[in-house]
Amino acid sequence: MAKKDAKQYVCRTCGSVYPKWQGKCDACGEWNTIAEEIVGGGGFSNISPRRSKGNLIDFVPLSGAQEHLSRLSTGIRELDRVSGGGLVSGSVILVGGDPGIGKSTLLLQACAKIAEQPEKPEVYYISGEEAIDQVRIRAKRLGLEKSPVNLASCTDIKDILITLEKANAAVVIIDSIQTMYLDEVESTPGSVGQVRACSYELIKLAKRKGFVLFLVGHVTKQGELAGPRVLEHMVDTVLYFEGERGHHFRILRAVKNRYGATDEIGVFEMQDQGLVEIENPSALFLAERQGNISGSCVFAGIEGSRPVLVEIQALVSPTSYSSPKRAVVGWDSNRLAMVLAVLEARCGMSLSSQDVYLNIAGGLRISEPAADLAVAMAVISSLTNKPLPADMVIFGEIGLSGEVRGVSQPSLRLKEAGKLGFASAIVPPTHSKEKKIKTDVNIHEIGNVQRIINWFN
Ligand code: TYD
Ligand code: MG
Repeated sequence: MAKKDAKQYVCRTCGSVYPKWQGKCDACGEWNTIAEEIVGGGGFSNISPRRSKGNLIDFVPLSGAQEHLSRLSTGIRELDRVSGGGLVSGSVILVGGDPGIGKSTLLLQACAKIAEQPEKPEVYYISGEEAIDQVRIRAKRLGLEKSPVNLASCTDIKDILITLEKANAAVVIIDSIQTMYLDEVESTPGSVGQVRACSYELIKLAKRKGFVLFLVGHVTKQGELAGPRVLEHMVDTVLYFEGERGHHFRILRAVKNRYGATDEIGVFEMQDQGLVEIENPSALFLAERQGNISGSCVFAGIEGSRPVLVEIQALVSPTSYSSPKRAVVGWDSNRLAMVLAVLEARCGMSLSSQDVYLNIAGGLRISEPAADLAVAMAVISSLTNKPLPADMVIFGEIGLSGEVRGVSQPSLRLKEAGKLGFASAIVPPTHSKEKKIKTDVNIHEIGNVQRIINWFN
């Protein structure tokens, strides 16, 4: 056991512990994430009294009656969707995201809606960041001031634990976990030690009492802020709230979910009266699109279980640098490099003297390789200065030999395109084993990337 006041060095990203400071964390490979912490009598192991004797554990067969998971609807459909169809009692949900993105707004809206339900679930919103008045002002702005939410401003976990022990809570929100502290842990609030110890105690109570626990954590894109990353292992669900500054769209993404699918997204728009759910994201992402412009095309993507159409914009212009610039917003820059290399090697296009900028309009971040073909077409369209038909959607993955590969759920993508009035689609070839897709959209199957050049002659 560590001596009292002994120092240790903890990585803020992955929580690895080192006896000496070092610039790079060997475990996660991040630089400058290791910070000094005082061990303070052995972290949180001394908070829960240890029993001297253990008990025998019971083993059971794999089959048997399962406990039915009852789910509590949040009244916000997009949040329900991302959490796997509602909140499971006793589950712990970490909501991460950049400061100012709207986490507190979302959770205040959710807890007000839950508290208003006829069964009158008890909802506790504990803010460590804002004073009571600040939360009240926000509630008023959102028109939620009449909702029976129990509000408190507190950062002492001991006080919170004692209070919640006596209460009959259904949902508890801790905003944010980085502001909370436990006396026994001697490091400052927000340090890995504090965040981990506070969460451990809260999670234990949530599991025992069966309330839904939301932990809010600020995480920068580089995972720079202390704590929350190490929490990902301790919680049941991790939701990230993301969006570009200057854009109104906010996307809630499940990156881990023990009670539902991951990759599911919820789309919101930040308005003056708070976050508004977007039921048809495609219409929103395409709202500002101008047809007949070179370098623009529409990608029919899938986010979780839902098809989402987005505009992909490329700008190709002669470079004034010795090495051409490639800049990407909303997509993987390595994939752009691969698509450009395939266009050069397999289609004979010369891009080495061109800067290439790629943007996913609307602030959405796409991770699907299915966008390859749409990216390639946007790049060629910009290079040749020839616009693509405005009513066309594209999807398909590109392989290194230039072949266009099939992607998941083509019919769902085409159905969404048809619904939004798109008349034609460029898609990967359907193989004889697969069922032919039934759709009103006029389909052009492309087996090799060389064939897309024909569209620009
Ligand atoms: P907030 O929920 O405080 O962010 P976080 O908890 O993630 O730090 O959101 C703050 C931003 O949201 C702030 O810049 C103002 C904006 N906002 C609106 O645009 N409309 C609203 O109705 C509210 C409450 C906030
Ligand atoms: Mg906040």
